[in-house]
Amino acid sequence: MHRGHADAGAVRLGHPLTPVLVGGHLLVTGGAGFIGSAYVRNLLLRRDGTRVTVLDKLTVTGNRENLDPVVEDPELAERFRFVQGDIADPEAVRGLVATADAVVNFAAESHVDRSIIDAEASIRTGVIGVHVLLEAIRGEAGRAGAGERARAPRLVQVSTDEVYGSVPEGRSTESDPLAPRSPYAVAKAAGDLLAHAYAVTYGTDVVVTRGSNTYGPYQHPEKLIPLFVTNAIDDGPLPLYGDGLQEREWLHVDDHAEAVDHVLRHGATGEVYNVVGDAHLTNRDLTRRLLDQLGKPWSLVRTVEDRPGHDRRYAMDGARLAALGWRPRVPFPAGLAATVAWYRTHEAWWRAARSGAWDEWYDRQYARRLATSRTA
Ligand code: NAD
Ligand code: TYD
Repeated sequence: MHRGHADAGAVRLGHPLTPVLVGGHLLVTGGAGFIGSAYVRNLLLRRDGTRVTVLDKLTVTGNRENLDPVVEDPELAERFRFVQGDIADPEAVRGLVATADAVVNFAAESHVDRSIIDAEASIRTGVIGVHVLLEAIRGEAGRAGAGERARAPRLVQVSTDEVYGSVPEGRSTESDPLAPRSPYAVAKAAGDLLAHAYAVTYGTDVVVTRGSNTYGPYQHPEKLIPLFVTNAIDDGPLPLYGDGLQEREWLHVDDHAEAVDHVLRHGATGEVYNVVGDAHLTNRDLTRRLLDQLGKPWSLVRTVEDRPGHDRRYAMDGARLAALGWRPRVPFPAGLAATVAWYRTHEAWWRAARSGAWDEWYDRQYARRLATSRTA
């Protein structure tokens, strides 16, 4: 399922490409993270001459090793550049946007639990950072107007189903009101609304994607699936929040990356597109499947104190993106099995991610919860 550098021949070329972007230069912000790095790896593996610059601050979840398959392949490496920096820093952003044909923004403080502890970091990247990107692009529109470049770069703002808030029944459509409930989700919603405001007010060429929960290789072990898989490998406890009956839709990272690319090339300016995975599960069901894959017992699962303000259910309607010609391709059972296998065979990667400041985070987040936990 995972298409690493070793199985380049298996890469799906996907849909026809907009000519202006083939062989062009893409700025991918947050491209050292989970989904951004999949996007960069898969895009460069098309070997169509496209160049990519990644701008990434390398926060907790950012990891240059996620881009090793790129730097280890000379043809890919030649078309790739990495810049460490902050999207909220206009100086870092302006020059890179000036040479880009498109900007794809994956950068975010993406963990709800961390945003509950430190809301400011989420807001800085999700609100100020998106504003800085939009302003830089507006500056390029000015240059295009003066005949200094052909056209301003398009921005794809990668957002999330969490902006709709908890959805008790039915499915969120793109025109539904936003009702975010965590600091992370509020920051993402603000980014979406800023993008909308720039499209309406300045005619900025921006499109928004809202993806569902994403799984696959290279996801930082703070998130549910890699946390539970890596804890279970070590026969450690799996901290299931509350009753575990919260519902999420799961989307494979390669599908998510491909959907973002599809919207970059085919989406309508100012439009929003939901990106929906093919599996809708409770956390309890998902945990059961992970343990089955690993051959580990349910007794590892512990009921712990719930996340404050925990969204009960996310569910989106994917009709708009389907009408644009995109569908997820990775069946959930095969994707999940390949993901679990990846963590089993990439122990050095996740043990490194679980070093340094990991213990401090883990204790802060789980020590008290686990001390007061119950059988699940
Ligand atoms: P991630 O945390 O793995 O990656 C985020 C990356 O952004 C990291 O490499 C980090 O270093 C970088 N970053 C953070 N702040 C930055 C800043 N100020 N400047 C530059 N770089 C910065 O997250 P992910 O799971 O890959 O998510 C990528 C995007 O997709 C996010 O915008 C997230 O909101 C969205 N999304 C994620 C999911 C999911 O389930 N993972 C679902 C839907 C949408
Ligand atoms: P997470 O991966 O943090 O994604 P999100 O909050 O964006 O959906 O969590 C997925 C679900 O798993 C969510 O309902 C919270 C739950 N969860 C736990 O039960 N225990 C955990 O330790 C974590 C990290 C998450």
